[in-house]
Amino acid sequence: MSWQGLIAHFGDRMDIAKTVPPVTLHEGNTPLIPAPRLAQAIAPGCELYLKYEGLNPTGSFKDRGMTAAITQAVAEGAQAVICASTGNTSASAAAYAARAGLRCVVLIPDGKIALGKLAATIAYGAEVVAIDGSFDDGLRMVREIAERTPISLVNSVNPARLQGQKTAAWEVTEQLAGTPDWLCLPVGNAGNISAYWMGFKEQGHKPPRLLGAQAAGSAPIVNGARVDKPETLATAIRIGNPARWQQAVDALQESCGHILAVTDEEIFDAYRLVAKTEGVFCEPSSAAGLAGLRKAVAAGEVNPEGKRIVSVLTGHGLKDPDSAVREAAVPTRIPADLDALMRVMNV
Ligand code: F0G
Repeated sequence: MSWQGLIAHFGDRMDIAKTVPPVTLHEGNTPLIPAPRLAQAIAPGCELYLKYEGLNPTGSFKDRGMTAAITQAVAEGAQAVICASTGNTSASAAAYAARAGLRCVVLIPDGKIALGKLAATIAYGAEVVAIDGSFDDGLRMVREIAERTPISLVNSVNPARLQGQKTAAWEVTEQLAGTPDWLCLPVGNAGNISAYWMGFKEQGHKPPRLLGAQAAGSAPIVNGARVDKPETLATAIRIGNPARWQQAVDALQESCGHILAVTDEEIFDAYRLVAKTEGVFCEPSSAAGLAGLRKAVAAGEVNPEGKRIVSVLTGHGLKDPDSAVREAAVPTRIPADLDALMRVMNV
């Protein structure tokens, strides 16, 4: 049968309510793309794969958690859902809430979310509230409102979210016919790294070592201290006080993993490189995992030789057109004339 989404496929291994039909956009089942040219450039000697989560229905991995969280909210009789977001969670919550006929309210840090995420959230009909504060401020506010009212909180502090997101680990294992040696990914609120670890552990195979990457201006886990004013151009991971901080630390420790900070320059270098060498366009934050891999290999913290390495590309490049255009060379302008074209093409 054709793919019907995560709950249809993995639901028997997901600890969520099964009393209502799944709220699904047929998320999941994303490709695991071999990336030999990129491997050559950043981690020679390894087999590198890209788990392209940007191909989920709203363009990010958040859809995995959201099919579970919104289905659970419907089963519990919720009429409305709320979240704080750096953009992708809001787009995903808005889409799945629309599909379930629920009211959706999202809190975003004013001016700090990528245009494609804002556009989609509005298109899906959510009520968007821009706050003069960070994601962390927004998360504190929505946690409080969810305690005082029957509105359902769909941030990754909601356990259903992790139940959905852990399925990505199972897909990677199916696609590789085994587990990788390393799994690299960006870390923001630390829900995803916690979910992958849960998924890998539940399978009973040897789990991979986890390599987490935080943006240098927003690296609380790396530095072991909350960041009150997080900064980075990789706005999706502009988070100073991750909700799943301790769980991420435990996952890193249990997996004999490693977490490191990457500068915006390193993130954007990796962002350009993966698109140019492999034709895979991800949003800047997604490239943090690759930037982390490159840095860890250069520092001798990861030995790529003979290893299978998966880097999770968490969101699609089209989410953030401003970054793409800012990073681009200005197009060459010519008259509509063949000679002029041949001159600029040097043919
Ligand atoms: N990559 C992207 C593209 C993201 O949008 C996020 C988080 C992460 C990585 C980090 O994942 O938070 O589970 O550690 N985005 C959230 C949001 C915070 O609101 O969309 P995490």
